[in-house]
Amino acid sequence: MKKENSRRKFVRNGVLFGLGLPLSSTILTACLTGNKEKKEAQDETSKKLKILILGGTSFLGPHQIAYALSRGHQVSTFTRGKTEPTIHVELFDKVEQLIGDRENDLTALENGQWDLVIDNSGRNVEWTKKSAELLKDRASLYLYTSSTGVYYPYMNENFKEDTEVLMTEPENIEDEDEKIEYWYGVMKANSEQEAIKAFGKDRSIIVRPTYMVGPGDKTDRFIYWPVRLAKGGEVMVPGKTTDPVQYIDVRDVAEWMIRLAEEKITGTFNAVGPEKPQSMMEFVEEASTAFEAESTLVQIDDYEFLKANQVLYLVPWIMPEGKNYGSSRVDNEKAIRNGLTFRPLKETVGEIYDWWESLPEERRNQFEEKPDSVLMRETDILEKWALYK
Ligand SMILES: NC(=O)c1ccc[n+]([C@@H]2O[C@H](COP(=O)([O-])OP(=O)(O)OC[C@H]3O[C@@H](n4cnc5c(N)ncnc54)[C@H](OP(=O)(O)O)[C@@H]3O)[C@@H](O)[C@H]2O)c1
Repeated sequence: MKKENSRRKFVRNGVLFGLGLPLSSTILTACLTGNKEKKEAQDETSKKLKILILGGTSFLGPHQIAYALSRGHQVSTFTRGKTEPTIHVELFDKVEQLIGDRENDLTALENGQWDLVIDNSGRNVEWTKKSAELLKDRASLYLYTSSTGVYYPYMNENFKEDTEVLMTEPENIEDEDEKIEYWYGVMKANSEQEAIKAFGKDRSIIVRPTYMVGPGDKTDRFIYWPVRLAKGGEVMVPGKTTDPVQYIDVRDVAEWMIRLAEEKITGTFNAVGPEKPQSMMEFVEEASTAFEAESTLVQIDDYEFLKANQVLYLVPWIMPEGKNYGSSRVDNEKAIRNGLTFRPLKETVGEIYDWWESLPEERRNQFEEKPDSVLMRETDILEKWALYK
């Protein structure tokens, strides 16, 4: 029962929070022709953009805003005015804040022109359809924030942007978690198509991030590692030596999105890190270098033992079995070829920890003292493992 609950919660959190084209023709032309064209292309690229973010106040949005403002762009957000950012709060004074509801009130979007619309809050196909239709003649580019969830069920590996994805949910799925995963992937895939239908392929950018991690993450699904590794001692590392992991710093996604728009690079892209394949053990080893505390890593590679102890995931590790086999086997070659870069994991983990420490104690305790969490059960699991192996 407990297992079901924790797994369900994981899937819900994952879903609700969001578990190549060559260089644009402008830039290519500039490379191949004379100086005049080159100069024009550069002027075009360095143009200050008017950006509208549908959403913008939760996790990805504030990082997009910080980067966009630092590049001299202007930003408007469109939200219900309910969600409060926990990062870059001071920047929101410099942002035009439009209020409405994607469900039933787009009045605030009926006037105005933008160079770029970023659809972060697209969690409903109709929402994306309506906003893309409404804005298609008053905005140049539409960037839809999708997800690698479009590849669910992850029965294969090496998912590329042209891999066929499900457009309808299968019937007769009994398992509630699976239903949600199917719904999310199909919703994202159809929303991508609505954006493309309204703006056309030449004016649409579709970005499919894997797990985004970084300061401001409200899901508490990655904070385990910074909190745990800061303490040191015997650290449980779930998974087999060959289990791959994928994740990406939210800032690497946010900043790359803005650069794609600046350079007018359109198309569909997986936003997946790290740059090179990485195992779970390699991930923990590298992440632990962010802290002075000494950690002794104890690998638990027996799936049956892990299941018996309700450790089915510890993001970025997801037990790679069945429909999750390929969830960390998504191809990032096209994104890298089109400018996606990755900051060092040590920096990511260290800065997440600093942000976490800046939050009120009460908020941190919701995670750090949560009964039955892996953090609270780790010592017990390690003791059992010592007797079991
Ligand atoms: N987190 C991940 O690891 C991950 C991975 C892959 C994909 N994704 C995707 O990334 C996207 C970014 O998520 P985020 O939360 O970081 O984005 P965000 O833009 O920072 O925040 C979401 C925004 O949506 C607004 N919103 C919610 N319901 C609304 C409504 N009915 N009308 C208008 N605005 C509404 C919220 O403000 P109000 O509440 O004030 O309205 C909030 O500003 C999502 O589409 C998610 O599916 C996330």
